[in-house]
Amino acid sequence: MKNKTEKKGSAQLTINGKTIDLPVLGGSVGPDVIDIRTLYRDAGVFTYDPGFTSTGSCESQITYIDGDEGVLLYRGYPIDQLAENSSFIEVSYLLLHGELPSAKELEEFDWTIRRHTMLHDQFDQFFRGYRRDAHPMAVMVGTVGALAAFYHDSTDINDPKARTIASHRMIAKMPTIAARAFKYSVGQPFISPRNELDYASNFLRMCFAVPAEDYVVSPTLARAMDRIFILHADHEQNASTSTVRLAGSAESNPFACIAAGIASLWGPAHGGANEAALNMLEEIGSVDRIPEYIKRAKDKDDPFRLMGFGHRVYKNYDPRAKVMRTTCHEVLDELGVKNDPLLQVAMELERIALEDPYFVEKKLYPNIDFYSGITLRAMGFPTEMFTVLFALARTVGWIAQWSEMIEDPTQKIGRPRQVFTGATERAYLPVSKR
Ligand code: CMC
Repeated sequence: MKNKTEKKGSAQLTINGKTIDLPVLGGSVGPDVIDIRTLYRDAGVFTYDPGFTSTGSCESQITYIDGDEGVLLYRGYPIDQLAENSSFIEVSYLLLHGELPSAKELEEFDWTIRRHTMLHDQFDQFFRGYRRDAHPMAVMVGTVGALAAFYHDSTDINDPKARTIASHRMIAKMPTIAARAFKYSVGQPFISPRNELDYASNFLRMCFAVPAEDYVVSPTLARAMDRIFILHADHEQNASTSTVRLAGSAESNPFACIAAGIASLWGPAHGGANEAALNMLEEIGSVDRIPEYIKRAKDKDDPFRLMGFGHRVYKNYDPRAKVMRTTCHEVLDELGVKNDPLLQVAMELERIALEDPYFVEKKLYPNIDFYSGITLRAMGFPTEMFTVLFALARTVGWIAQWSEMIEDPTQKIGRPRQVFTGATERAYLPVSKR
């Protein structure tokens, strides 16, 4: 990556009477940053920002979010335009290469991904070590990490060709692995990929076909699946992406880094929120119980939060949630689910929350997870699979971010510091004297 930040000015920081000049750097759009890289050397202090609420951790040219305006751009292209007009494979190329592909480039990339969908035969047996009731995200963390053992020839991070092969392998194999995690949990035989099918159709077929009966992929559902993948493909420096970058900064192999990202994504405050949102809608159950839950969400002494609401960055309607809401209606129409009670609860909950002063003042809007759970459930996925689908789609974003980091000449191992409030040095006491 060619670094492009420009010096815009300087900021002065006075500490204990000593004033230090810190460069202010700017990118192409978005807030400027104060470059504090020499702060400890010059002033002997660290900055303190748990949760990184005001910290830029890297320079990036992949995804831009304006949380106040509700804008999400992949390489400059608005998410709604991509969701409407593009395909996940094209978006993957865009994220990885920075530009939309020509027809020939798209064809070649698509072909390459289709050719890497199979798993090593021994890899299939690897799944059998898990309990049948294992959460599929546990299976994902383990199996994706294990890819390094099966494809060791593409783990040299200093070889650009090996990095590209590892990227293609992960993008292509993730649907096969995710479908196997699902099939294993329901006790059905694995269904092999069919490379004549597009990415989303192939995945749906691997999930829902059985040897005794093939699965005819509905174009509407395949399009919805593809759109869900596009919406989840990247999201700037969120927890899982930062995890991937942090693991990668230690020069770990790409398969291990993506496995680390999957582990981070699993959490209910991040990728696990779609599962939590659907569970919450089921718990609420009917429109008349919404006020009780709104009351609980506002109660400081109650840990309950409206899942699928609020976002660290978006202080406006999540632009992905808008597309997701439309997709949700399309899927339910296609499947003939006219009056899904959960959709009724969701729409009413959204209406009430968008008018309620608590949510309005705190700028808590529905996020992508609010409608994705209802959509995925209608498509036939159990709730435990929701985060798996998120991981599948986010893999390309993680890889793009990881590659960018490896190619960034200013990249260093990530090593935050701390403010220490524990015990200061003291002498060890033998147990007999304590
Ligand atoms: N329900 C009720 N109150 C909320 C909610 C919510 N969903 N979200 C935030 N708040 C309140 C929170 O209690 C706090 O109030 P106060 O200022 O009085 O203490 C205020 O709003 C700010 O919240 P915060 O926790 O400081 O904000 P954050 O940026 O640290 O958290 C969040 C962001 C996404 C973790 C949080 O909004 C949340 O837990 N939402 C529910 C889980 C969810 O839907 N997560 C999916 C995120 S989108 C998927 C992705 O991109 O990964």
